[in-house]
This record gives sequence, structure tokens and C-alpha cells, in this order.
Amino acid sequence: MCAEFFTTQGSPIAECPPPRLLKQTHRTISVFFTLTVVANFIVRVWRAPPDWITYAPLPPLFILMVTGLCMFARPYLSGRGDRSSGLNA
Ligand code: HEM
Repeated sequence: MCAEFFTTQGSPIAECPPPRLLKQTHRTISVFFTLTVVANFIVRVWRAPPDWITYAPLPPLFILMVTGLCMFARPYLSGRGDRSSGLNA
């Protein structure tokens, strides 16, 4: 999804989702991720949870990793800093 953005050739960074969209997605998915982790702990009070609960945090965690790394890398790959992030070099 974000692999083509990790280059300094041309301006592929322009195709990266807008920072606000990335941030909003990251924030929203973090809520789902937290709920799946909490569900794991709650179910484990009574019994070993079924596999789908055990592994439920992984898909949102993957999305968090991709959006998080995109947010992290964006200012460096844009070559001119991301004015909206406050990371102007
Ligand atoms: C898995 C790897 C992750 C990476 C690489 C990552 C990376 C980042 C980065 C770089 C930011 C700063 C964005 C900015 O304001 O410039 C951020 C913000 C944030 N992250 Fe993550 N993150 C990860 C996982 C998580 C997880 C597991 C959670 C919560 C369960 C989480 C919740 C948040 C929240 C709430 C923010 C603030 C968003 C906002 O200001 O709107 N992140 N993350």
C-alpha cells in the first residue's frame, strides 16, 4: 500500500494519502485495536479464548503499522518537510 512511497525519485509521496486522512485512520483503528486487546483480557478471565479472539488484534495492528510508518516517513520522504506536522527541517 505504502511501499511505492518509499522512494525519493520523482514525487511519489504526492500519492500518499493526505496526512489528515492517515492520522484519522490511525486514530480510529487504534480504538478498534484497543477493544480487541481488552476483549482478549476479559475473555481470558473465564476461559481460553477462541482463536478468532486471540488473533483479532492483528489486522488492526497491521493497519496501524502501515499508517503509522507512512505518517513517520512522510516528512522525510517529501524532501521539504511536512508543514502540517511541524517537522520542518
Ligand atoms: C504498530 C506500529 C505503529 C506505528 C509505526 C505508529 C506510528 C505513529 C506515529 C508516527 C504517530 C504520530 C503521527 C503524527 O502526529 O505525526 C502516531 C500517532 C498515534 N498513534 Fe500510532 N503507531 C503505531 C501503533 C499504534 C497503536 C498500537 C496505537 C494504539 C492502540 C496507536 C495510537 C496512536 C494515536 C492515538 C496517535 C495520535 C493520532 C493523532 O494525533 O491523531 N498507534 N503513531
